[in-house]
This record gives sequence, C-alpha cells and structure tokens, in this order.
Amino acid sequence: MKITSMTNHSAIYPSLKGKRVLITGGATGIGAGLVEAFAGQGAHVGFLDIDAPAGETLAASLPGAHFRACDLRDLDATAAVLAELAEAIGGVDVLVNNAARDDRHTIEDVTPAYWDERMATNLRHQFFAAQAVVPAMKAQGHGVILNFGSISWHLGLPDLVLYQTAKAAVEGMTRAMARDLGADNIRVNTIVPGNVETPRQKQWYTPEGEAEIMAAQCLKARIQPADVAALAMFLASDDGAMCTGHDYFIDAGWR
Ligand SMILES: NC(=O)c1ccc[n+]([C@@H]2O[C@H](COP(=O)([O-])OP(=O)(O)OC[C@H]3O[C@@H](n4cnc5c(N)ncnc54)[C@H](O)[C@@H]3O)[C@@H](O)[C@H]2O)c1
Repeated sequence: MKITSMTNHSAIYPSLKGKRVLITGGATGIGAGLVEAFAGQGAHVGFLDIDAPAGETLAASLPGAHFRACDLRDLDATAAVLAELAEAIGGVDVLVNNAARDDRHTIEDVTPAYWDERMATNLRHQFFAAQAVVPAMKAQGHGVILNFGSISWHLGLPDLVLYQTAKAAVEGMTRAMARDLGADNIRVNTIVPGNVETPRQKQWYTPEGEAEIMAAQCLKARIQPADVAALAMFLASDDGAMCTGHDYFIDAGWR
C-alpha cells in the first residue's frame, strides 16, 4: 500500500465556525495552508505577511479573508496591523504565530546586528503579537495562541544556529505563557513541524536530500501544509479545550 499525506482533510469543527483568527506569515507555505483551512471551517480570517503580492493573491481567492502587508520586525507596524485586522474581522479568538525565515549561516558569519535581526524575525514578534491580543482574550474569557516552533533544534541540523536558538526559545515561551494565561482560559501551545513540503523548502532539496528525509522519517510520504493545518484546527477548536502548555509534533516520525 502506498502511504500518502492526507491532503483532503475532512474534519469540520463546529466550534471554529465564526471564530476570529489572526495569522502571521499567511501568504505562502504553511501559513497559506492555515489561512485556507481556517477559511474552510467558516472562520473569519485576518492575515499579514511581508510578501504583499502573494498575500493579496491569496486573499482575493478567499472571500471574507482580510490581508495586510507588514514586516513583523517592525513592532509598531505589527501592533497597528494586528489591531486593523482584528477590527476588520470583529475581534480575535485565535492567534497563530506562524511567520519565520530559516536563512542559513555559519557561526563565524554572525554579527550582533545579524543576531538581533534573526531574533526579530523568528522569535520577538511571537511574544509581542501575543501581548497585543491578550487584553481582548482576557476580556472575553477565552483565547487560543498557537506558536510555531521547529524540529530543527531537536535534531541539531547544520548551518541554522540562530533559527534553532529562536525556535528552542519559542517552546519555553509557550510554557511560560500557558502558565500565566491559563487562569484566563487562554490556551497556548507550540506546533513543531518536521520537514514540510513548501515552495521555499523545495528550493533546498535535491533528489538525494529528499531521499534522506524519506529514510529518516518513520512515515514514507512528504508532509504537506494541509497536514500541519489539520493539527492546528484541532488545537484551535474546542475539541482541544484541555490542551495547553505543550509542544505538538507533526513530523512523520523524523529522527
Ligand atoms: N516547512 C518546514 O519544513 C518547517 C519545518 C519546521 C518549522 N517550520 C515553521 O513553520 C512556520 C511556517 O514555515 P514555512 O515553511 O511555511 O515558511 P515559509 O518561509 O515558506 O513562509 C513563511 C512566511 O512568513 C513570511 N515572513 C517571513 N518573514 C516575515 C516578516 N519579517 N514579516 C512578515 N512576514 C514574514 C514569509 O513571507 C512567508 O510567507 C515557520 O514558523 C517555520 O519556522 C517549517
């Protein structure tokens, strides 16, 4: 039997219908899969991305999805855009901190300025986006925050030391936030993807590299953005009501 990724996920979560969902980095890759999946659940989706053409194209294909261009390294702009998007969709029930950028570098090449830029791209905005939505979530008595981590630091992959440093911190931040926000019925979890077949990831992989991933995974199929979105749908829905403070892997058993 040929094993394939489940790209036709069929679960519909009644609790997600009408939910107001903000997603960062939603224009391409896994983020675009999240935007499509939440829209497919009947949620009201607001998403931002630095890639304006891709974001506008996706929003045009999904009636009711709102897009704003934004560079998450600029925290003032991020706060303003999140507020605009929340107003457009009528509030916020779910925040998905998805955006990141896994640029390669050697230890020798890292300068203090590059360190700051990598942390601003891969860690800092997750905290401040959460800080921006927490007052509204506390006031309404519920909320879900999904932070994106990465399997990379669990495996110790090469040439990604700053990205892996940031992604390790995301898991610690999630635990701390879940503790501080649990009494307000705000759940915080990390989604930890393995190697997901996105347009950006495809550029790194030769046929030999693809074969290496397949050999390292327990399951012999490439993970698709829809597979990651399927986990996010569960965690964002009321079916995940007692899940908080943890790291949920979607990695096809990559070791
Ligand atoms: N694809 C994988 O194999 C994989 C593996 C592990 C973890 N992840 C994590 O999953 C999440 C999504 O990954 P992906 O593979 O879809 O990445 P991607 O690079 O394909 O997409 C990321 C999106 O974020 C946007 N973005 C990047 N920097 C931004 C900025 N400064 N401001 C606003 N938007 C910005 C990009 O334009 C892009 O649309 C990330 O957090 C990533 O670290 C992915």
